[in-house]
Amino acid sequence: LDNGVARTPPMGWNSWNTFGCNINETLIRQVADAIVSSGMRDLGYKYVVVDDCWMNSTRDAQGNLQANPSRFPSGMKALGDYLHARNLLFGIYQAPLDRTCAQYFGSYPGATGAQGHEAQDARQFAAWGVDYLKYDWCSPSGTIDDQVRTFAIMRDALAATGRPIVYSINPNSIHAKTGPQRNWGDVANMWRTTEDITNAWDTGQTNGYPMGIQNIVNVTVPLAHYAKPGAFNDPDMMEVGRGGMNDTEMHSHFALWAMMASPLIAGNDVRSMNSITQAIMKNQNLIAINQDSLGLQATQVSFDGTRRVLAKRLSNGDVAVALFNQGGSATTISTTAAAIGKSGSSFTLLDTWTNATSSSAGTISASVPAHGTVVYRVSGGGTTNPPSTFRLRGESSGRC
Ligand code: GLA
Repeated sequence: LDNGVARTPPMGWNSWNTFGCNINETLIRQVADAIVSSGMRDLGYKYVVVDDCWMNSTRDAQGNLQANPSRFPSGMKALGDYLHARNLLFGIYQAPLDRTCAQYFGSYPGATGAQGHEAQDARQFAAWGVDYLKYDWCSPSGTIDDQVRTFAIMRDALAATGRPIVYSINPNSIHAKTGPQRNWGDVANMWRTTEDITNAWDTGQTNGYPMGIQNIVNVTVPLAHYAKPGAFNDPDMMEVGRGGMNDTEMHSHFALWAMMASPLIAGNDVRSMNSITQAIMKNQNLIAINQDSLGLQATQVSFDGTRRVLAKRLSNGDVAVALFNQGGSATTISTTAAAIGKSGSSFTLLDTWTNATSSSAGTISASVPAHGTVVYRVSGGGTTNPPSTFRLRGESSGRC
C-alpha cells in the first residue's frame, strides 16, 4: 500500500501472544520502558501495539469507541502520549465486522466492531495518536471479495484522516485461509498469511489453527513475490523468548522472519528476557537484512523437502542466503554464489550469528543442526541479478 509508511517491515511489540486480554496501561508502559532500556527501540522496535481487549464493551452515546475504564483509566490518548514521549509509536487493534475476536469467542462481552463506524473510528484513532492499526476479520463468513471491500473501507478511512498509519490486516482469523490466496498489497501495508501462530516449532498444520513456526514458513515462502516497500507478508507476531522452542529453533524463527521481510513484532514479555532471547532479537546483522531498503522477501533457491535455501538480494549488492534445515538431524546444506544471483569467483561470507567472516570461490555451505538456520551475508563478486528476475524458481511467469 502506497501510503508513505512501512517502506521496510514494521518492527515493534504486540501484547497478544503473552498477555491475551490481561492487559492494562501499567503493563503497556512497563513494556514500553523495557523496549527502551533493553536497547530494542534503538534497533528499530518502535511500534507498541495494544491488541484485543483494550476497549469498553459499548460505544458512547455518540457512537465513539471507549477505552476499558478499569484497564486503561487514563485513556488511549494518554497512552499514545506516553509512547510518543519515548520516541515509540502507538498501535491499536480493531475488527471490521461487528465484534473483535475476543468478543466473538465470548470471553469478552460486547460488539464494538467498526462496521458502519469506519470513518468515526479512524478519526478517533488519529486523534489518539495511533500510528498502526491491526484490523482483524474475526468471522467465519464472507467471501474474499467481501473481505477486500471491507478492508478497503478502513484503508480509505485511515487515509482520509491525513495521519500516517500503518495498516495491518488479518484476513485469516477464524476464516478459511484467505490470507495466502491473493496479493493484499493494494489493500494494506501487511497482511497475515496464516491463522494464529503458536509457541511451538511444528503443529503439523498446512494452514489451520494454530500454526507452528515451520508450518508458517511453508505457507509464507511461496508468497515472496508479493513483498515490496509498503507491502509485506505477515507471518504473525514472533514467539521468540516464550519458551516453546529450543535455542536453535528460536534463532531459526527469527532468522527466517528476517529473510522473509516479515514485520518483526516481538510477542514475548520484554520486561524479562534472558540473554539468548536478547542475542537473537537484537542481532544487528539479521535486523539489517530484514530492514533492507529494497524490501524484497527471500526467494527459494532450492528445497529438497529437508534442506531449504533462501536468498534475499540487498540494496548494496550483497545477497543474504539462509541454509535452513527442516529435518530432525544435523545435515550439510550447500548452494553456490551463482545460484543466489552472484557472479564472479571471490566472495566474503559473513556468518550473521557468529560474526565470523570467511572467503569463498563460490561454494556456500554449512553443517546445520536440526531445525537450524545459518544465514550468510555474501559480498564481493560482480553484479547481482536485478530484482525482477530474482523470483521464485519454477514459478510460472504469469504470477509475477
Ligand atoms: C485473532 C488474531 C490474533 C489476536 C486475537 C485477538 O485470533 O489472529 O493475532 O489479535 O484475534 O482476539
